[in-house]
Amino acid sequence: MNSPPFSPLSSRRPSERRMSDRRGSQIASRRPSEFASRRPSIDPSRLIPMDKTIHIGGADDFNVVFIGAGNIMFGSDEGPWNHSFRLEHKLGRRLKVVALIDPAVERAKAVLQKKCDSFVVSAYQDTRVYKTLDDFVRAMTPKERPRAVIVGSPPMFRGTLQAGRDIEMQILKHFPGVALFIEKPIATGPVHELEESFQIAKTIQDTKTICSVGYMLRYLKAVQMMKQIIHDNNLTVMATIARYACAYESIAKPDWWDKSKSAGPVVEQGTHFCDLSRYFGGEVDITSVTAHSLEWNENAGQLSHMRIDESKIAPENRIPRVTTATWKYESGAVGTFTHLVALQGTNYSCELEVYADGYQLKLLDPYVQPVLVMRKPGDDHEQQVRFPEDDPFFSEISNFIDIIEDIEEDPEASQILSSFEDACRTYELTWAIREASERSRADRLYAIAEESKATATEEPDATAA
Ligand SMILES: NC(=O)c1ccc[n+]([C@@H]2O[C@H](COP(=O)([O-])OP(=O)(O)OC[C@H]3O[C@@H](n4cnc5c(N)ncnc54)[C@H](O)[C@@H]3O)[C@@H](O)[C@H]2O)c1
Repeated sequence: MNSPPFSPLSSRRPSERRMSDRRGSQIASRRPSEFASRRPSIDPSRLIPMDKTIHIGGADDFNVVFIGAGNIMFGSDEGPWNHSFRLEHKLGRRLKVVALIDPAVERAKAVLQKKCDSFVVSAYQDTRVYKTLDDFVRAMTPKERPRAVIVGSPPMFRGTLQAGRDIEMQILKHFPGVALFIEKPIATGPVHELEESFQIAKTIQDTKTICSVGYMLRYLKAVQMMKQIIHDNNLTVMATIARYACAYESIAKPDWWDKSKSAGPVVEQGTHFCDLSRYFGGEVDITSVTAHSLEWNENAGQLSHMRIDESKIAPENRIPRVTTATWKYESGAVGTFTHLVALQGTNYSCELEVYADGYQLKLLDPYVQPVLVMRKPGDDHEQQVRFPEDDPFFSEISNFIDIIEDIEEDPEASQILSSFEDACRTYELTWAIREASERSRADRLYAIAEESKATATEEPDATAA
């Protein structure tokens, strides 16, 4: 039987159990936030497509360790991601993948075989597969010491200080000074572990470790052009409006549909647009976040083309179909975000609008064909710029490697646009949205239950007299 995610039976109004107070005091103890205008950015003309770039110079081997042999690392039909492919283009024959770490050994061996059967064999012919980082550490020769570790394991296994889910701390311990690339979101564990993620961020900062988190949309040329317009015109962002509608029919991973595994679609996926919103709007006043959801067991939440069997997921862990949130930025600006599990087919429909005095900057279709639609002072008409060859996945990897190699003459040229600490703040926002939507859902169920109790008391008892 379907049961609502929250029981209306509690004697206390659900919203009284607020978590924001607890979090408010935690936030106060952290260092003051940076404002959006100070966030790193890159001149968009410097974001060069992969096929127009040349391999980075040098002749020495560039050792890399991959953690995770899944879609993000080796590609899939679901999207354009594939870090191994971008690293091959960036590093050419210098790339040596010394280890591929994944408990699914057969999967790891299968992807390696494909690489060894192709023209990039030189990067993979000596790659060894390990189930754990510890196994690699025990077997590693000095020659195999990595210069970078690329982490693409599921977020439920990282981002904390708990044994088995502390891969960042393990890498920092065994390989001090080695650069880290970590996929988004930085974790998906319970919200009370958030402080542990911030502690990892602090260790990364204190040890001056090069670390980039995979919020690749920040590297879109369109996004950097928006940043440039804001900067060049000395604008203050007034509002961000973000919409992320995924094509649920193409999402076949059962874990994605299970909040106990993925933490839900806002934390796992909508995170990209919450992050972009922060990139433009600045820090969010977390206590201001309000949200509503359309749940799986409400009439409007029925989906006809799911490719997974949702009945295998516990009712309380099934994901909402729509989540919509609003918040205040510390600057005074406002943000809104809507995540939808509503479209079929394969392409997502995602848009971000940024408003400032006289300006509307609209980012459309960032995953497939990015377009920037602009309205500026002095002209009511919209102007469109298209970016047909843009590849933000390549740009984020390219900038990461350039920073490690420290080759740029111009220190402004290469930038890591998403630090671990910044990514923690995006993670915090997505959890705040999820919690706010669950609170308002619980409030609504409580109100309905109270109303029906009141109606029952008012109705005359037909059996009396
Ligand atoms: N930036 C993007 O657009 C984008 C796109 C896809 C995935 N991602 C992110 O990449 C991460 C991985 O996603 P994916 O689609 O590749 O998942 P996946 O399920 O395809 O692959 C994950 C792999 O990690 C392995 N694994 C599990 N536990 C491990 C552990 N403790 N250590 C090492 N490996 C382990 C699994 O066996 C699996 O092979 C997620 O955080 C996801 O959000 C980002």
